[in-house]
Amino acid sequence: MKTLLLSKNDVERSVSMDEVIMAVEAAYRAYQRGSVDQPPIQTIEMPEFGADSDIKCCYNRENALFSIKIVGLFPENFNGPHKYRSAEGEKLPNMMGNVILGDGKTGASLAVMDASLITGIRTGAAGAVSAKYFARKNAHVAAVFGMGAQARMQAYALSRVRAIEEFRVYDKFATPETRQAYLEDVRGLTGAKVVFCDDPADAALGADVLICATPSKQAYLMKEYVKPGMHIIEVGVDVENKAEVEPAVFAMADKVICDSTAQCLARGETRNAVMSGLFAPEDIYAEIGEIVLGLKPGRQSEEEITLFDTTGMSIQDNTTAEAVYKVAVEKGYGSWFEFV
Ligand SMILES: NC(=O)c1ccc[n+]([C@@H]2O[C@H](COP(=O)([O-])OP(=O)(O)OC[C@H]3O[C@@H](n4cnc5c(N)ncnc54)[C@H](O)[C@@H]3O)[C@@H](O)[C@H]2O)c1
Repeated sequence: MKTLLLSKNDVERSVSMDEVIMAVEAAYRAYQRGSVDQPPIQTIEMPEFGADSDIKCCYNRENALFSIKIVGLFPENFNGPHKYRSAEGEKLPNMMGNVILGDGKTGASLAVMDASLITGIRTGAAGAVSAKYFARKNAHVAAVFGMGAQARMQAYALSRVRAIEEFRVYDKFATPETRQAYLEDVRGLTGAKVVFCDDPADAALGADVLICATPSKQAYLMKEYVKPGMHIIEVGVDVENKAEVEPAVFAMADKVICDSTAQCLARGETRNAVMSGLFAPEDIYAEIGEIVLGLKPGRQSEEEITLFDTTGMSIQDNTTAEAVYKVAVEKGYGSWFEFV
């Protein structure tokens, strides 16, 4: 029995953003149809190294595949500089982990692949799926908060579903070097103009789509920045101690959509909004899968304010890893290993 081992480079050359957007839509459909068994996320803390890893797993009856992703942030791999390295002395990225894709029938591990790009690209695709149904059709200006990996992926994915001409970017910790790197990357990925703002209000001004992609612990998206017709994509808050969007924004939104209501109430920005008392679980308009399946409409007017809260679901990893695996087998990427 052979298992396909796929590096980050193999993952990258196996799928395009457009294919991952389709895979994430398939994930949301399967989840909504009740075809997914997805246990709660488990977190392993390694406090002496300032690190933690999340285990996200699920079984998808629609492709008969199960997946287990263990991925975490190991900041000291990067800080210091590169305080901790591999046993061979190599520098390592701060996000480390793998996805195991398994055959539901036999339990065989079909593939083991790098998880960092899978996580990045499927999260970007999640934002794009929401924009496909909720951003105004003629959306052409996007505000981006953050300048990290997700702020790149969200911009790239959004540009695949809307003709964005300008990204207005704010990052509290920006330096000339990080700005230059973001500019080169996002201009290369999207072809759009990239403008840096020193004030978050300037970034938000005139934006049709607003992306929050920072690990901030304090809300910075104020209700004054939000205007009729905006679609907000909330990505950064995926555990209890983070905050980006002030609860009043949830209260003023016409439609709040979650990837998984249960997960957003447990660890997303929706949780913060509910805890403030300004927003109630009953105020959630839908799960995104209901929209993808056509059970509820997406944007219904030019004026609606819509907000998508995504905490990231294992089923997104499952369908994305499936897409990667199929192409990699066909193209002969990676290497095979026999565990059994
Ligand atoms: N929802 C999901 O499925 C999902 C998936 C992946 C990552 N995330 C989360 O998204 C967030 C961003 O991840 P990343 O990989 O891009 O991280 P990153 O470290 O690559 O980038 C974060 C960026 O945010 C900036 N920043 C930090 N605090 C800020 C603030 N208060 N205001 C403005 N900018 C600020 C930093 O300077 C940095 O440029 C994290 O919280 C991460 O856990 C969520």
